Amino acid sequence: ASTLGASAAASGRYFGTAVAANHLGESGYVSTLNTEFNSVTAENEMKWDATEPSRGSFTFGGADQVVNHARGQGMRVRGHTLVWHSQLPNWVGQLATADLRTAMNNHITQLMNRYKGQIHSWDVVNEAFQDGGSGARRSSPFQDKLGAGFIEEAFRTARATDPNAKLCYNDYNTDGVNAKSNAVYAMVRDFKARGVPIDCVGFQSHFNSQSPVPGDYQQNLQRFADLGVDVQITELDIAGSGTAQANSYSSVIRTCLAISRCTGVTVWGVTDKYSWRSGDTPLLFDGNYAKKAAYTAVLTALGGS
Ligand code: G3I
Repeated sequence: ASTLGASAAASGRYFGTAVAANHLGESGYVSTLNTEFNSVTAENEMKWDATEPSRGSFTFGGADQVVNHARGQGMRVRGHTLVWHSQLPNWVGQLATADLRTAMNNHITQLMNRYKGQIHSWDVVNEAFQDGGSGARRSSPFQDKLGAGFIEEAFRTARATDPNAKLCYNDYNTDGVNAKSNAVYAMVRDFKARGVPIDCVGFQSHFNSQSPVPGDYQQNLQRFADLGVDVQITELDIAGSGTAQANSYSSVIRTCLAISRCTGVTVWGVTDKYSWRSGDTPLLFDGNYAKKAAYTAVLTALGGS
């Protein structure tokens, strides 16, 4: 096949991108998106600050734009993200424990019901573990007030709300075997042993020279798959340019293809010019929507041409 999406589909996988609603009026952006990708993630529009800026008052304008565009094009949608310490409006952190629990479960229920049947996978909890070697949970209103059990509570609420969506835990710096991924692994293993509903683990895969594609990337994703969950590469971008960048992209794609439970890849943006990594060129299309060497490497690795 001649596009990323169609080439990934040949092995039953999706190839997605993060999308920002405010670029959907730009013709180069939209034509690249529509031609190449068959899954989208809202880059910011489904986050708590965008969807429930004050308690109980839900605003779905941006999220609806992204979902409606995707559905109009027959693309699938990943939901990102329900419970996260960042982009969290201040009011959430000000609630006392009982109210916080109610607010968390209500937020999950409202978001999932709005898009019920339209989201293939939800990042139910995002980035709940600390960096560094401790393997500890990150401080957040949820962790600090509800305790470590907030994660399992969020997954149970999510399953009850949309039983057909795949429920993912998503994080960064968990791509190789390290203390942080070991901690996530132990959580997933415990969830599977106790019947806590979890279907997938998202590996964000933000790579750069400080944090390159790990040598044990495949081994790490495979050990999660062996627990009985799908794995997804959810926010892929790789700083750099030229052949080195292309080779890194190729190795990421080959890793996913080597794991039967790696169900899809999402890159974190369509074009370098709108990447969150400003000043870098970490994506597959340049600022003029020209295909980069990294694009060709990905297409080739997917078996396309
Ligand atoms: O929407 C406001 C706008 O009203 C305001 O005028 C403007 C002024 O700064 O800010 C806008 O918000 C920005 C938002 O993106 C939307 O553009 C925030 O400042 C900015 O911080 C925010 O950055 C996002 C970042 O998450 C925030 O944590 C990036 O676009 C987004 O790519 C990034 O994505 C995260 C994933 O969700 C989770 N994993 C890591 C990944 C990269 O950081």
